[in-house]
Amino acid sequence: MTWRWKTIIEPFRIKAVEPLGFTTAPEREEILKKAHCNVFNIPADKVLIDLLTDSGTSAMSADQWGAVMRGDESYAGARSFFGFDRAVRELTGYKEVIPAHQGRAAERILFAILGGKGKTFFANSHFDTTRANIEATGARAVDLPVREAWDFDHTGPFKGDMDVKALDRGIRKAGAKNVPLVLMTVTNNSVGGQPASMENLRAVRRACRRHGVPLFLDAARFAENAYLIKLREAGFKDKTPREIAREMFSLADGCLMSGKKDALVNMGGFLALDDPEWARLARDQLILGEGFPTYGGLAGRDLEAMAVGLREVLDEEYLQYRLASVRYLGDALRDVPVPIVEPPGGHAIYVNAKAFLPHIPPENYPGQALVCALYLEAGIRAVEIGSLMFGRRRDGRFEPARMELVRLAIPRRVYTQSHMDLVIEVFRKLAKRRSRLPGLRLVEGPEVLAHFSARLAWA
Ligand code: F0G
Repeated sequence: MTWRWKTIIEPFRIKAVEPLGFTTAPEREEILKKAHCNVFNIPADKVLIDLLTDSGTSAMSADQWGAVMRGDESYAGARSFFGFDRAVRELTGYKEVIPAHQGRAAERILFAILGGKGKTFFANSHFDTTRANIEATGARAVDLPVREAWDFDHTGPFKGDMDVKALDRGIRKAGAKNVPLVLMTVTNNSVGGQPASMENLRAVRRACRRHGVPLFLDAARFAENAYLIKLREAGFKDKTPREIAREMFSLADGCLMSGKKDALVNMGGFLALDDPEWARLARDQLILGEGFPTYGGLAGRDLEAMAVGLREVLDEEYLQYRLASVRYLGDALRDVPVPIVEPPGGHAIYVNAKAFLPHIPPENYPGQALVCALYLEAGIRAVEIGSLMFGRRRDGRFEPARMELVRLAIPRRVYTQSHMDLVIEVFRKLAKRRSRLPGLRLVEGPEVLAHFSARLAWA
């Protein structure tokens, strides 16, 4: 389809609607106080626009809801499994498909069979749960993003790439037999939802082949990555998103998938791979923690919805709108001006809170201060990715994170352009008084990964 209009529209009309959580300013002040300035503690019906995550928050289509009614809930050999298995094999080309209840369940299974003391895993960046599942086995997880990834103003098209030279050195140093696999996260959530290029995927594959190490994809946002390749990489303009995705999967030996992102469902995931021995070991683990291999922690209806979602997500009109809506928010915030991680990526806009609120030092959590200001101002919920999430507090000593960001994650097919216009208007208002926005102090929280449970107060 060639779209000849400047205005890119939501490629759907709305059949079922949900009310938003309207609150007054005094109510929000009370709610935030009760939540100890931690937005994870705010009841969702007190949130007007929820940009906490794009995970499990998608709106399903009428086709998906129809498929839910077709779910076969048999314990073994359910029809829903075979349809799901076919959809995943058609998309990825991998022979073995193992359903799991979400991405981290698939991670736990894969790293339980491959991890252990003395093993090293390399990735462009590991998502937090991926790293945690690797480290839980005693193995090491090493991130090797390209250098530009940490330069937020750099507008390179593929800042989700891996540093291939560093990978080569890393594998040689660790010894190939101690590197069970290399992982490419597409898109790279930990560095601003930036895509990896096909050229980089090919180079990583060549390096892996040289050392005889398998390559896997963390494919949570594979369709967004495929479309960003179409938009930004030479030679892909005339390929369909499905062709590009197929090529991405063909370069790897298997994938981990959180269906809560690009399978457009509220719960689900899988592991897919070619190696029959790894698949056998994985199914043993699956039975231990998830369920029988033809349902793996999911209901038949969930498998049906995921099979439909995996096809819908590669729809060209959908992806055009999806990437345009993220870019729309990013472009408007840059104009305010609000400093963002450039260029706008696949699923979220990341605001550079350190640059936006330079008067708040890291120990007063500029990212969380902005998160709280967004909630107080208009009931918008975002998430801090900075010193609250990644800083360390040991023996009274504070070590800041290397970045102070606020992620505005955009749920799929949920909000319209006018919702984004409100977010932009709120940022315009906050920008006018940003030098007066107060910082926070930690009242109570664990030494690491404090963001879920921390209690804070105004500094
Ligand atoms: N891999 C990536 C790249 C992710 O972003 C996530 C989840 C996972 C794996 C784990 O999948 O949640 O289904 O167990 N990311 C969510 C987020 C939580 O908000 O970015 P899961």
